[in-house]
Amino acid sequence: MINTIIKGVGMYLPEKVLTNDDISEFVDTSHEWIFDRTGIRQRHIASKDQMTSDLAYMSALDAIQDANINATDIDLIILATSTPDQVFPSTAVKLQDMLNIRDGAAFDIHAVCSGFIYALSTADNFIKSGKYKRILVIGSEVYSRILNWKDRTTCVLFGDASGAFVLEGQNNDDIRSGIIDSLIRSDGQYRSKLYCDGGPSMQPRTDNFINMDGKEVYKHAVEKQTIIVEELLDSAGVKIESIDWFVPHQANLRILQTTAKKLKIKEEKIIVTVDKHANTSSASIPVAMTTAIKENKIKRGDMCLLEAFGAGFTWGAVLLRY
Ligand code: UT7
Repeated sequence: MINTIIKGVGMYLPEKVLTNDDISEFVDTSHEWIFDRTGIRQRHIASKDQMTSDLAYMSALDAIQDANINATDIDLIILATSTPDQVFPSTAVKLQDMLNIRDGAAFDIHAVCSGFIYALSTADNFIKSGKYKRILVIGSEVYSRILNWKDRTTCVLFGDASGAFVLEGQNNDDIRSGIIDSLIRSDGQYRSKLYCDGGPSMQPRTDNFINMDGKEVYKHAVEKQTIIVEELLDSAGVKIESIDWFVPHQANLRILQTTAKKLKIKEEKIIVTVDKHANTSSASIPVAMTTAIKENKIKRGDMCLLEAFGAGFTWGAVLLRY
């Protein structure tokens, strides 16, 4: 029996911080409006010369150091992003080169805010099949480049970041260690509720901005995340009381609190970092998890429930013992 162990975790937030008050200087908004509705206080913004691959590289180094391995021990890179450096090649192969890895494979996954959950689930299946031994899973985003900084309904919500896990296949008979189970779902009929303009086959353009029907996204996020978590726990035969930590996608404090309440998860078990970095899409879960581990909240052996919801709509959940 091969188990997928979380060998190391890492994160990177760009240096520049933009507070709610900073944003209120150039769009008609206020700290009170943003904080009351989302729990966000500030976000980090990549510098002009920093791309998604640069952020990914920094979080990868952090995770590789935490795993106490060499980069060349990694035989697969799966990078979740919806803000790749280029249309092609993938940002994952660029990162592979930056890390001086010359064999194995690397590819991107595109599932927007659910990207890290999709990538973890994919990596878990690759490890359990015996095809790969050590996989670097990354969520990396530079949303500041696809925000319309004149649109107060979206520009206040997002930020730039990267987070990474090093996963390792280990042979043992304890089916309750590492990644226990995962589920991913999508429903493309809702793709117009949250999207980015243009794209190379639809309409090549340079002003590719995020558009969102916030209320619809909110409603579906709570509903679909609750259902998939119940399904996952049922399939894994795990009771909600056994969960030590709930690590949801950090989009909005109200969404994650409402989802936790519906699932009857106690407030003190929720990992919240959205106040410090806003919604960083696929990077948010590994950043939240790494922060909680570095703060000594999440400890080895703790049962963690990770879940996300994003454009598509896409959603998913992963149950793991850290
Ligand atoms: O991974 C998924 C990512 N997406 C999300 O997580 C977003 C989910 N949706 C939400 O969290 C909420 O819908 C928002 C936080 C985006 C918006 O909250 P809301 O309570 O649904 O506000 P609203 O869109 O209904 O807007 C209420 C008012 C409007 O003014 P009027 O029409 O009532 O006069 C907006 O124009 O608030 C106004 N408004 C703002 N005011 C100040 C919208 N954005 C802002 C702003 N500052 N930044």
